Amino acid sequence: MAGPVSIAVLKTVPLFASLGEEQLRMLTAMVTRKSAPRSTTIMAGGDPTDSLYIVLSGRLKVMMSDSEGKEVILAILGPGEFFGEMGLIDDEPRSATVVTIESCELLSIAKREFKKAMAENWQMTEAVMRGLVKRLREADRKIGSLALLDVYGRVARLLLDMAENVDGEKVVTKRLPKQEIAKMIGASREMVSRVMKDLQTNGYIEIRGMTIVVRDTIVLPG
Ligand code: CMP
Repeated sequence: MAGPVSIAVLKTVPLFASLGEEQLRMLTAMVTRKSAPRSTTIMAGGDPTDSLYIVLSGRLKVMMSDSEGKEVILAILGPGEFFGEMGLIDDEPRSATVVTIESCELLSIAKREFKKAMAENWQMTEAVMRGLVKRLREADRKIGSLALLDVYGRVARLLLDMAENVDGEKVVTKRLPKQEIAKMIGASREMVSRVMKDLQTNGYIEIRGMTIVVRDTIVLPG
């Protein structure tokens, strides 16, 4: 489903925060709004690149899979974040597959318009660079975790990274199935189940319905 986009909506997008009214007005004609139900593949690794996407609402996973269907989740994206910029910048095919994990509202902007907007707005280009640097930092952290932490450490770090502060407690409020944790940290689902059970038994985490409370007693090495 696609539809028009208002200036008010564009103003909620961090990537466009530096743009003035006139630039935003011009963008309304270039940007398309789309709704996608859960489990929709927005782009597949290897596809030719055509557009940049911005998340207005909902969450998506960035993933890679092999021919047997084994998956690794590189990142989870949420409101305000963008994706599909890599292929737009270097003209290479899509580096990964992006799939909705909830129903999502997205904005898309075609390659030519996006490049034009970047050429005309240094601050927007800087916002894109900041997004890329954030991703590189997160990817470095992930490589560090895979090489330096055991599965306990990787689960603990992931939970701490995903936790939000709720009334003074660290809580993972979003649904996080063990299978998804396994795909994010490069471990089997069985191993993740065992580790989560141990962390629970030893009081490091508490499962409350759909949420996970992470206790301050969890300490990461290093
Ligand atoms: P592109 O290569 O055009 O298409 C796939 C997109 O997934 C890519 O652009 C990025 O926007 C996004 N992506 C790829 N790798 C990562 C990562 N490690 N973390 C977050 N997003 C990523």
